[in-house]
Amino acid sequence: AQIADRIVVLKGGEVQETGTTAAILSAARHPYTRELLAAFEPKPRQGQADADAGTKQLLRINDVTAGYGAMRADGLPLIRAVDSVSLVVEKGRNLGVIGESGCGKSTLARVIAGIHPAAAGDIVFDGKDLQRAARKRSQDQLREMQIVFQYADTALNPAKPVEDIIARPLAFYHRLDRQARSKRVDELLDMVRLPRALRYRHPSELSGGQKQRVNFARALAADPKLIICDEITSALDTVVASAVIELLKELQRELGLSYIFISHDLSVVEAICDEIMVMYNGQRVEQITPDKVKAPAHPYSKLLFSSVPKLDPTWLDGLVRDPELVSQYGHC
Ligand SMILES: Nc1ncnc2c1ncn2[C@@H]1O[C@H](COP(=O)(O)OP(=O)(O)O)[C@@H](O)[C@H]1O
Ligand SMILES: [Mg+2]
Repeated sequence: AQIADRIVVLKGGEVQETGTTAAILSAARHPYTRELLAAFEPKPRQGQADADAGTKQLLRINDVTAGYGAMRADGLPLIRAVDSVSLVVEKGRNLGVIGESGCGKSTLARVIAGIHPAAAGDIVFDGKDLQRAARKRSQDQLREMQIVFQYADTALNPAKPVEDIIARPLAFYHRLDRQARSKRVDELLDMVRLPRALRYRHPSELSGGQKQRVNFARALAADPKLIICDEITSALDTVVASAVIELLKELQRELGLSYIFISHDLSVVEAICDEIMVMYNGQRVEQITPDKVKAPAHPYSKLLFSSVPKLDPTWLDGLVRDPELVSQYGHC
């Protein structure tokens, strides 16, 4: 929208429609173009399925600090990627984490999951204190909190068929025998709306969206209470991404899950989250509800939200950049 004079819409190797940018954006004729454009508009989240939702804390972290490099004398890392962050996730609810690249979102996700142990702070999950390092947590604690990453390609073992990938947590966490595992694989493929026949394929024989669904089925196989989703839609196009978001919402209604949904894309976070935490430079800047996105209180959030490119060819020209804000928050 910002740079092109004319737009060509491709699907399945064929041109569906072509026209000036204004014509495509405001008067698309082809249904596929309309579907692509509609996927930009987040659909608001619907009511909770779980009567308990929002009444009970599932996860609380207090003043968590983590980073990389050498430790200082006070036991804190030289490079702080996450700096005294506190947050709460309620049962059956979703917390969005948004911020520019490098602000510490993935480090925060890994710290909560214990893959990258925090240097300081407390993590309380389902009423119990969690060890900072995953290897010191109980098997049930590991099972109840799953993490799904952006790069389905690197997350899925290329040498294994889909059924083996999904069956692994069934053996590890639930000790299911061969026959029970096979049955459960079918159920999990149904849950993520993939055809059962895909169980025999290898990851390289799947599309990006299908890979992300397999990734998700594997997380569901553990029977988790919380799934941390780190940029899981970032490598997908808008139509496929919005289908994945709709699936996540449906599964939440069915299973009463909670999500921490990490993204640099505000429209994605808005579509699925009850609360949104804005991060900048390792710190929590503010926490808002999606209805407040239009009017955030903190100047950094204002700058971040105004930086989301709109499907409006005049957006860039109309963008008023407060020079003081831009100099304060630099590269945003
Ligand atoms: N393995 C690592 N070693 C050293 N620094 C790292 C490592 N991983 C991330 N960082 C740094 O930590 C900061 C936060 O990174 P990250 O958590 O990946 O941010 P985000 O997910 O928001 O893009 C960045 O400055 C990044 O360069
Ligand atoms: Mg990241």
